[in-house]
Amino acid sequence: CGIVGYVGRQKASPILLEGLKRLEYRGYDSAGVAIQQDGQLELVRRVGRVDNLVKEAAKHRFTGTTGICHTRWATHGGVTEANAHPHISSDGMIALVHNGVIENYSAIKKFLQTKGYTFHSETDTEVLSNLIAYHYAKEPAAPAGESRFLHAVRKTLRHVEGTYGIAVLCKDCTSEIVAARKGSPLILGVGENEYILASDVSALVSRTQNVVYLKDGEVVHVTAKQFSISTLDMEDVSPVVDKVTWAIDAAELNGYAHFMEKEIFEQPAALENSMRGRFSEDGSTAKFGGLNLGPVDFRQIDRFAFLGCGTAWHSCLVAEHLIERFARVPVEVDYASEFRYRNAPLSGNPLFFVMSQSGETIDTLGALREAQRKGYKVLAINNTVGSTIAREADGGIYQHVGPEIGVASTKAFTSQLLIGAMLALHVARMRDMSFADGVEYVNALKSAPNLVRKALEQAGHIKAIAQRLAKYNDMLFLGRLSLFPIALEGALKLKEISYIHAEGYPAAEMKHGPIALINELCPSVFFAPKGEIFNKVVSSMQEVKARKGPVIAIITEGCELPEGLADEVITIPDCHEAVLPIVATIPVQLLSYYIAVARDCDVDKPRNLAKSVTVE
Ligand code: G6P
Repeated sequence: CGIVGYVGRQKASPILLEGLKRLEYRGYDSAGVAIQQDGQLELVRRVGRVDNLVKEAAKHRFTGTTGICHTRWATHGGVTEANAHPHISSDGMIALVHNGVIENYSAIKKFLQTKGYTFHSETDTEVLSNLIAYHYAKEPAAPAGESRFLHAVRKTLRHVEGTYGIAVLCKDCTSEIVAARKGSPLILGVGENEYILASDVSALVSRTQNVVYLKDGEVVHVTAKQFSISTLDMEDVSPVVDKVTWAIDAAELNGYAHFMEKEIFEQPAALENSMRGRFSEDGSTAKFGGLNLGPVDFRQIDRFAFLGCGTAWHSCLVAEHLIERFARVPVEVDYASEFRYRNAPLSGNPLFFVMSQSGETIDTLGALREAQRKGYKVLAINNTVGSTIAREADGGIYQHVGPEIGVASTKAFTSQLLIGAMLALHVARMRDMSFADGVEYVNALKSAPNLVRKALEQAGHIKAIAQRLAKYNDMLFLGRLSLFPIALEGALKLKEISYIHAEGYPAAEMKHGPIALINELCPSVFFAPKGEIFNKVVSSMQEVKARKGPVIAIITEGCELPEGLADEVITIPDCHEAVLPIVATIPVQLLSYYIAVARDCDVDKPRNLAKSVTVE
């Protein structure tokens, strides 16, 4: 979900809606806006995309200079106008937008019903607006120096269990917003004579680059002239104003049809940015400024544990392969959501890494906290400066690829692969890797952007293949070793954006089950790079061909396949093992993108998904 709030001198509505459009990738089931105007709270909500809301809001000609808005990814309650945010208390005093989940909402609801408050939605959020209204009505006098509105929000939040990022308006309080967070991101943009609250910097960066990242348990009171931050226990917090380093055009389409397309083609530059300044002067290893661990610490580590969700989990699997292969240290990979509850036994001295593009995925954050609770150090590989995961981790590596807007991750994924490969090198050079092998490895990493450029040159050819494949409803992606995770990623990309059912498997495993699916209606995409496994993968292709399954082969330039075996062939440039997963990802990104376009799917906003999931 996405939140935007505005207090300032301008008309709030256009600023709010522009911000909301930039947050739409966070959820797009319904959207709504509340504006404070002429002593009233005016509300408009619509099911569907933000555009529906924009059209409706235009009819209202809002002039108010204070407001809040929201785009929703449904959790509690279906996709209806009544469930859309903002929610207004039944006495009409409080309007509120919320990201997160209120766990004790039914107890609060029962209590409020006994006090005469009524409910009009199926959401957990509505208890918040009503409970704030209840405290506001019940306690006309706030403690000295405290606004009554702020006091009512604070009191409410003390009774709430669960997670929230909220922004609240009060009918009585012209030009004021109270906002708070616990487990859901919230950022205050400090502009010229205006403040913008948002759950994501992309919503406010067109108006200001000065931001305050709120922390869990903090409440901010914003008026047209100033803001103050305090804790739920009324302790004042001195704000730290940070600068956002990326400019607004990073979040524009710049001539591309979709953000996904733009982000696929941005990958050479994104990889350059992830590498910049991160090689040692002697050119034999990678270095990272933010790990907070020296070589002696690294020598003590007897195991790495990598945790992530979705695409990031696939990056963890590639990191596992490369670290075990080059640094010879055992690695365990777990879904963050499983690790959190599995209570797995751990070795004596593991080092944890969490992988998260957004840095806000609640499952990953929960896993980070669980590992820290057990006394382990957790480092983060993350693309979002100031994100919750970045802040709570004990150190880490920023990806520096700029905002990723397409819901299906592309440039953030290949950058994670690159950082995993650099980490493998970093550790390997502290152990058994020679100087010469280190230099060769570094040179290979430095060549990655050019190799990706070369792989992207196949776009036209892959588009033509995609048009032939768009009619199928099932597909397999098969790869081995470091390309098994890329097979998983290829399948995930395809199902996410084209709704074709797809599965990723280790190529040799295919004969142990998925082979039952093979017929002329189920194509298989094989990764068959040059090297020791090439012939083995070719045998798996034969097994598919023998059962009339269409074969799409991704092979290294110069490799030869038996005549007539593959129906479609895509080549990738020859490269070092550490770079191979990155280069091999490009064709499957393009394939899924062009298939989704051919099927007329909404590539950047696939149904039911959200870019970052801040609920469990
Ligand atoms: C969501 C997205 C996925 C993403 C996953 C992890 O489920 O739809 O595309 O891979 O979250 O996101 P993160 O921001 O933690 O990398």
